Amino acid sequence: MLRILLLAGCVAVVLGGKSPHADYVNELFARNPSARYSSDIHEDARLDVPGLVSKYGYPIESHEVVTPDGYILTLHRIPHGRDQNNRPDPNKKVVILVHGLMSSSACYLVLGPKNALGYVLAEEGYDVWLFNARGNFYSRRHTRLNPNSKINQNFWRFSWDEIGNIDLPASLTYIEKVTGQKKLHYIGHSQGGTSFLVLNSLNPEFNEKFYSFQGMAPAAFFKHNEHSIYTALAPHVSVIEPAAFAMGRGEVFGSREFITWFALRYCAEDSIFSPICSSIIVSGTSDHFNTTMIPVFLGHAPAGASIRQFAHYGQCINTDSFRRYDHGTLTNLRKYGRRTPPEYDLNKVTAPAYIYYATNDRSTHYQDIRQLASKLPNVKEAFLVDSPTFDHLDFIWGSGVRDRLYTKMIRLMREAENA
Ligand SMILES: *[C@@H]1O[C@H](CO)[C@@H](O)[C@H](O)[C@H]1NC(C)=O
Repeated sequence: MLRILLLAGCVAVVLGGKSPHADYVNELFARNPSARYSSDIHEDARLDVPGLVSKYGYPIESHEVVTPDGYILTLHRIPHGRDQNNRPDPNKKVVILVHGLMSSSACYLVLGPKNALGYVLAEEGYDVWLFNARGNFYSRRHTRLNPNSKINQNFWRFSWDEIGNIDLPASLTYIEKVTGQKKLHYIGHSQGGTSFLVLNSLNPEFNEKFYSFQGMAPAAFFKHNEHSIYTALAPHVSVIEPAAFAMGRGEVFGSREFITWFALRYCAEDSIFSPICSSIIVSGTSDHFNTTMIPVFLGHAPAGASIRQFAHYGQCINTDSFRRYDHGTLTNLRKYGRRTPPEYDLNKVTAPAYIYYATNDRSTHYQDIRQLASKLPNVKEAFLVDSPTFDHLDFIWGSGVRDRLYTKMIRLMREAENA
């Protein structure tokens, strides 16, 4: 499947390929011939984003953005709907969807047409752009640095500070150039919320570009965090991160690593609800999690990240603050002009904010989200999802999430446009 699009002087080649863990999922299916999965489950687990979106009859474009520091990012775009609003239109409102840690643009698509936020927004008349942060499966390229080198790990020396401070400005500027739209909505899940806060606190001029910030479980404060793995590892980040780089292991849960396959296999062998697995894949206990969909989730996630993204969250947990990455005194002096990293100034995040959170979320605890909401200067609404079992990944993967959350979000987006 090959389609060539000419857009504002740039060529976007859309080539359907394999999902990050397609080979693994093949093996999983082969070893469990008795498990009955529909052909859609089989296919959706193995197709990458362009393949998946084309399969369901939606238009899909892939765009390349090169950041000032040389990372080559892939933005996916669904420019219009299939059933409603199914024509290109330069006046469409633009929305950018930003994924969480170890995730990708696929997270907003795997639930399929009718349920996944990417398609729902296209049907509602939006021009949908799906971001991929540096280092993930779709943005694992650089003009000079080699992500596969075990000896030179410089490709992997970034945290979500760079994602918010470099990748997002480059992507937003690009989107404005292609669409001509001066304003857009920003939807982020978890780290997608973190990176929005980073973007606007460090580059406040971006605030005015947003009709709204729709933050689903935005991660910034961790005082009440109940995620057992993070809490256990956080005190040791200053040892773990340099050790990982020294061993050539700056990439975490990428699609090529043995450990990823090991974790996936361990999780798939009917132990999906064992404690370790559930904290990696399901992150808790949720009755919104559709177990029939497991192969599809496993085909697309995890999509890879840098060890430093984890280390940066670990520093936030340890210091009980939302501040820039701590490079150590000497580098801090050079980069920040001070010995310790500065906090992100949330008073500068003035875009209209809509925050969604859940009481059963162990990764971004509801009390921590309330603290964030109390510190942001322009919160229009903080919405507690009405279910005692709704968990961190249910915001993107939960069954019924459309009725429970997306319908409301879209109504609030329209309100924000007319404000
Ligand atoms: C779970 O996923 C399957 C396969 O996509 C779907 O047929 C079923 O309706 C889903 N169940 C719920 C409760 O959403």
